[in-house]
Amino acid sequence: MKNLTGRSFITLLDYTTEEIQKLLNLAGELKAKKRAGVSFEPLKGKNIVLLFEKDSTRTRCAFQAGGNDLGMNVTYLGPTGSQMGKKESIKDTARVLGRMYEGIEYRGYKQETVEILAQYSGVPVWNGLTDLYHPTQILADFLTIIEKFGQLKGINFSYFGDARNNMGNSLMIGAAKMGMNFTAVAPKELWPDSSLVEKCKDIAKTSGGKITLTEDVNEGAKSADVIYTDVWVSMGEPEHVWKERIEKLFPYQVNDNVMKLAGKDSIFMHCLPAFHNRKTIMGEDIYQKFNLDALEVTENVFESDQSVVFEEAENRLHTIKAIMYATLGEE
Ligand code: CP
Ligand code: NVA
Repeated sequence: MKNLTGRSFITLLDYTTEEIQKLLNLAGELKAKKRAGVSFEPLKGKNIVLLFEKDSTRTRCAFQAGGNDLGMNVTYLGPTGSQMGKKESIKDTARVLGRMYEGIEYRGYKQETVEILAQYSGVPVWNGLTDLYHPTQILADFLTIIEKFGQLKGINFSYFGDARNNMGNSLMIGAAKMGMNFTAVAPKELWPDSSLVEKCKDIAKTSGGKITLTEDVNEGAKSADVIYTDVWVSMGEPEHVWKERIEKLFPYQVNDNVMKLAGKDSIFMHCLPAFHNRKTIMGEDIYQKFNLDALEVTENVFESDQSVVFEEAENRLHTIKAIMYATLGEE
């Protein structure tokens, strides 16, 4: 296993099974320390910058609070207020920020942007979500699964919904690396890109995992240990896709029927935020336009005992700390 110090974290494709496991173990240790109230500031004196071109609660706060926990100073740059992309290219921005900061987080649109930052800044760059991938979320999801089932290998993981978005892509890669049985349950046109599927099938051959794509809800739900879903329309997609996406994906909503097919020992997961009731501006808007009070998951499932969504959200903090510590630390 290569030392992780100085590495960027921009797609799970760049990390081996052992390296992912090492990050998960480290996250578990950092979580235990935090729970025990033990202060641990190995990165004291370092500075990191967070670049957000899209909104965020969990990712932003996990990098901010996690950076503070590890002893670092954290700068936040939002979608407005910096020169990046407007008057200054990403390549130039990378070379400026790399001289001021020890690490850079980026959330935005193109995967290419995070790759350019990593190529030209000379410091570790962490992908906090692009249109293509969301790798930090996967570590939190996998830590949660380990806490519930004791392992990743052999876990039957079913992803319902838009399987070709950043979450579908990254979960499939992560599952392939960790020897899990990943099933995308979605209409064909929302299956992941075939070249990525082939790549993951190849990876799964070595890890002992399996990649399955199906349009059949019953097949996807039965014997699943984990039922996972995400929003049907991702940040940055145009307004006009909502109607068609809802029509296509409504049969794939995670509801009591899906959870019953999976069985009482299964868990429900979602990266959040979720459309599960009308208590948000967008939730109410969807209700007014489409007469639906929930989309990808019903309120009943979201609030059920099988739902682990807030444990998953907490684990964003511990896993993001592990990534920062492993790539910036001296180990
Ligand atoms: N799951 C996730 O990335 O949430 P945020 O958009 O709030 O960061
Ligand atoms: N697919 C979602 C994930 C949000 C965490 C989006 O990109 O909006």
